[in-house]
Amino acid sequence: MTSSGERNQVLGVRDLVYAYKTADGDLEAISNLSFRVDEGEFVSIVGPSGSGKTTLMKILAGLLRATRGSVEVSGKPITGNVPEGVALVFQDYSRSLFPWMTVEGNVAFPITRRGLSAGEVAERSRQSLSAVGLDGFARRYPWELSGGMQQRVAIARALAFRPRLLLMDEPFASVDAQTKADLEDLIASVHQQFGTTILFVTHDIDESVYLSDRVLVLSAHPARLLLDREVPLSRPRDQVATRELPDFVHLRSEIAGLILRPGHPVQGADPVQTR
Ligand SMILES: Nc1ncnc2c1ncn2[C@@H]1O[C@H](COP(=O)(O)OP(=O)(O)OP(=O)(O)O)[C@@H](O)[C@H]1O
Ligand SMILES: [Mg+2]
Repeated sequence: MTSSGERNQVLGVRDLVYAYKTADGDLEAISNLSFRVDEGEFVSIVGPSGSGKTTLMKILAGLLRATRGSVEVSGKPITGNVPEGVALVFQDYSRSLFPWMTVEGNVAFPITRRGLSAGEVAERSRQSLSAVGLDGFARRYPWELSGGMQQRVAIARALAFRPRLLLMDEPFASVDAQTKADLEDLIASVHQQFGTTILFVTHDIDESVYLSDRVLVLSAHPARLLLDREVPLSRPRDQVATRELPDFVHLRSEIAGLILRPGHPVQGADPVQTR
């Protein structure tokens, strides 16, 4: 928070346009997108398949360069390099971990050679593994773990980095329903415990409402912002009780209406509130 009570902006996206160059000409994946994420917020992005969510995450991670518009992380423009203080967790945990390194080695890898002592690296790795419930697994290899556990290692690695902004692109899409619920509660508790600012992409409307302080809904491609809505649910949340609350049910129907029946706005739905 600033002295005026305003929250500090961690991510600012303004008039963002991204067009892929293809053999058939330019393909506009993102069309004029603007939003902000403030310090400590958990913001989800939902939208139909192919709407440009991964493209957006790649731009925010510095892997693609915006065609037009601006993106700032902690007040610094992203110019095509990996921005400082940004960590990424993708859906495909099996490809994101190094199989020849132990769990601890994987978690420590991005923070070595960053001016930390060996003791600090070890301590951060230990804390991060503990935060994701993997105490005692430091010396195991990724291929000795279940899918859900491997995704926990990927989350621990991102946490060890102490990111200003944690980007997650469908991180729980490849695990079974029970593991997904466990990982949702895990990331919610990590968010509470570390105050991490999180931007979370998901296909799952319920998941977006359950986890977030705010949900952004994107249109089918090219991505435009259809809705930017605060989630009126207190924390901590509960997998059963929270999902039965009228505010939860109402918001998920409103979002589902926008995504599943575009062009047929839900009765009583407010227009986009951009902040
Ligand atoms: N490398 C690329 N070259 C050309 N077009 C691409 C490329 N990557 C993605 N696209 C196109 O850009 C659009 C947005 O793709 P993107 O992967 O960002 O969607 P998404 O919202 O993440 O979809 P999903 O929910 O299925 O993961 C799609 O129409 C896709 O075909
Ligand atoms: Mg995607």
